[in-house]
Amino acid sequence: MIKIFSDPDELNHYAADKFIEIGNSSIDENGRFTVALAGGSTPKTLYKLLTSDKNRSQLDWSKVFFFIGDERFVAPDDAESNYRMAKENIFSPLDVKAENIFRWQTEQLDPDKTAERYSNEISAFFELKSGEFPRFDLILLGMGDDGHTASLFPHTAALKEIARIAAANPVEKLDTVRLTFTLPTINNAANIIFLVTGAEKSDILAKILNSEPDPDNFPSQAVNPPNGRLFWLVDEAAAKNLK
Ligand code: 6PG
Repeated sequence: MIKIFSDPDELNHYAADKFIEIGNSSIDENGRFTVALAGGSTPKTLYKLLTSDKNRSQLDWSKVFFFIGDERFVAPDDAESNYRMAKENIFSPLDVKAENIFRWQTEQLDPDKTAERYSNEISAFFELKSGEFPRFDLILLGMGDDGHTASLFPHTAALKEIARIAAANPVEKLDTVRLTFTLPTINNAANIIFLVTGAEKSDILAKILNSEPDPDNFPSQAVNPPNGRLFWLVDEAAAKNLK
């Protein structure tokens, strides 16, 4: 489902309400709400909005379990860290307990070990058997202007990963290794929300949503949960080239 909003503020208010709605129904059904946060800059406003007096009172945060959908291979207090962004904008303001937060252990010396450790922690949390994937109640995603999502960049190895829950992903164009949920993990979610704003995303968004599937070039096209709901929340500036 694609919903177009007049501006980011309207989009984020809708996203906050949807987050709380999914959270409460997950808690009603399963006694907990498992959510993987997106990194980058777009979600910051949503995270701050969730900590408003109005919103913070609408969810039992002690039953919310936070994961990070992708991460840079930097220390958790690094300015580039998605965990640090989440901590500053949602975990600290809501006083989320450490046992409710599952982050990538980027203190490891080897990104592959970091990814393996995160996969094992997620597997233990969801009590998975070997070969099973977690089913997050909600995964939030952003989209880069090259069509990447999480840290699944065009033409990178992790796009083809079908066995692991999380993977280290060398990204040549950034000259770095990123850490990311794999597509089987993302596509096993019960709900996925893409947050896309700004005119700079209008060309790529039109390609992602209006052109033939080409996930190696446009990774966001590969997000399609067979047993879940997919929401594209976009503002008018990003949607201006959509058919
Ligand atoms: C990251 C994000 C990444 C992000 C897109 C969009 O680690 O940077 O997870 O996938 O969502 O790059 O970033 P903006 O929201 O900053 O445009």
